[in-house]
Amino acid sequence: MKKTDIQLRSRQWFDDDADPGMTALYLERYLNFGLTREELQSQRPIIGIAQTGSDLVPCNRVHVELADRVKQGIRDGGGIPLEFPVHPIQETGRRPTAALDRNLQCLSLTEILHGYPLDGVVLTTGCDKTTPALLMGAASVNLPAIALSGGPMLNGHYLGRCAGSGTVIWEARKRLARGEIDTEAFMQAAAGSAPSAGHCNTMGTALTMNCLAEALGMMLPGCASIPAPYRERAQMAYYTGKRAVQMVWEQLTPDRILTRAAFENAIAVCSALGGSTNAPIHINAIAAHAGVHITLEDWQRCGQRIPQLVNCQPVGEYLGEEFHRAGGVPSVTAELLGAGLLHGDALTVSGRTLEENCRDSRSADRRVIRTVDEPVAAEAGLMVLSGNLFDSAVMKVSAIDGEFRRRYLSDPTSPNVMEGRAIVFDGPEHYHAEIDNPALNIDEECILVMRGAGPKGYPGSAEVVNMQPPTALLEKGVQSLPTIGDGRQSGTSGSPSILNASPEAADGGGLARLRNGDRIRIDLNLRTVDALVPETEWRARDAQLATPANQTWWQQLYRREVSGLDGGAIFESMADYRNIIARTPRH
Ligand code: FES
Ligand code: MG
Repeated sequence: MKKTDIQLRSRQWFDDDADPGMTALYLERYLNFGLTREELQSQRPIIGIAQTGSDLVPCNRVHVELADRVKQGIRDGGGIPLEFPVHPIQETGRRPTAALDRNLQCLSLTEILHGYPLDGVVLTTGCDKTTPALLMGAASVNLPAIALSGGPMLNGHYLGRCAGSGTVIWEARKRLARGEIDTEAFMQAAAGSAPSAGHCNTMGTALTMNCLAEALGMMLPGCASIPAPYRERAQMAYYTGKRAVQMVWEQLTPDRILTRAAFENAIAVCSALGGSTNAPIHINAIAAHAGVHITLEDWQRCGQRIPQLVNCQPVGEYLGEEFHRAGGVPSVTAELLGAGLLHGDALTVSGRTLEENCRDSRSADRRVIRTVDEPVAAEAGLMVLSGNLFDSAVMKVSAIDGEFRRRYLSDPTSPNVMEGRAIVFDGPEHYHAEIDNPALNIDEECILVMRGAGPKGYPGSAEVVNMQPPTALLEKGVQSLPTIGDGRQSGTSGSPSILNASPEAADGGGLARLRNGDRIRIDLNLRTVDALVPETEWRARDAQLATPANQTWWQQLYRREVSGLDGGAIFESMADYRNIIARTPRH
């Protein structure tokens, strides 16, 4: 397609011969900060920069400076940049949970892209939900879009040891509970894990989702892993801006990239990364907005047998800097492609296929990015489970170690069948109030259950399923108990939990019927989890769960519209609006 064949969308605002009156009206206010009429009527693509960084979002704050390099790239590419803010999301600062705001940021981006004179957009991704939120919005609108990660923080250190984001907190909390460290040491360990600008440096949700944005084809190759302060990060910002302009002329829209093949690639890469348990929620949500039907069964089918190649915390040793130096996503992709485990012909924002992007990449450090033949773990994907407690839930099987299996064996001849006694908590406040209550008699054969923590129940779905054992057990050396819940778990936690149970207890799920002392059986061969309660008694139990009142109107609206975690916790009626760009807004 030649440039002259393309009618830029922004001309309907700034250069409409048929309606000079409206053109003047749109034009004048965009001149008032120094843009010229000549520029705005020069038939150059106008590229938005969706800015997620601010003082409220430290994980993405580097984008405030990176935007200058993006703008220079857009200018050198022949376009005109217009930077704009979207609704902020910061994972650890937003109460009650940042999960409430993913769909809100998606909504804010969608309305901006539709309602303003933009021909393409650079999506500034980073902190957990910012990546899926912006990809969901871009997929719905279908305007040429390219993601730019802000990059992880430098490696953290504390007392000479590597300290990874989040992961160090989960460890230090246990040490604090055992009395091995005091509050001051806890604070210093936490601060040590955040040494620079950037998002979490472990393979938690932020780094996982940025890697998956690259695997989906929505980022330039190599972009996801560059640490925020590295010079390559600002250089990548420049290339991304430049490329965004070309994508407009090529009409390289998200629907050409976000195909079923791309989502299957993302699922496989997630296993290879040892990625976050939040990934299925976000990937399924992006797919829904892209009009591609991806379910948890696709995760089971495409992901479970893929080996884990990346040796990063929380289920490995290293952090973002080593991952980047070992070659990042292109090396992982090349390794999987070589074993025939990906669709190499999937198109990417570079204008080339995944295979063309990554063909020459290979791991520069086999300790950090391993081979398919010598992986960190075989069959590292998420297992999808079901039973009378829920229709679906996911589990990182690689997080279960041998000692753990031994404690729960009901039959020594079936190492994949485990049983335990349920201890049930209605939300994290209940857990914190009761976990050390001796009357509960929690021992090493118990299974901790968290309910009321899903999208409708919490509301928003909270990262609270990775509960630690009572202090008495920690002091005995029992580091973890199995947990089950209808909420999520932090992507920086390596706990072997059964998560994201759907439907949630607040929406009629079986977890609402569970009581303290019920036996629960987990059968990894059959992929089932069941409360061993006679069917008639089970049915007779109350399935109502009391949940907290809404504190804001957004919470009310969110609860009314949100789907279960299995479907991505989306607003289904919002995802039904597809290819919005084809509908020109009225004057
Ligand atoms: Fe923002 Fe982890 S808290 S990236
Ligand atoms: Mg998180």
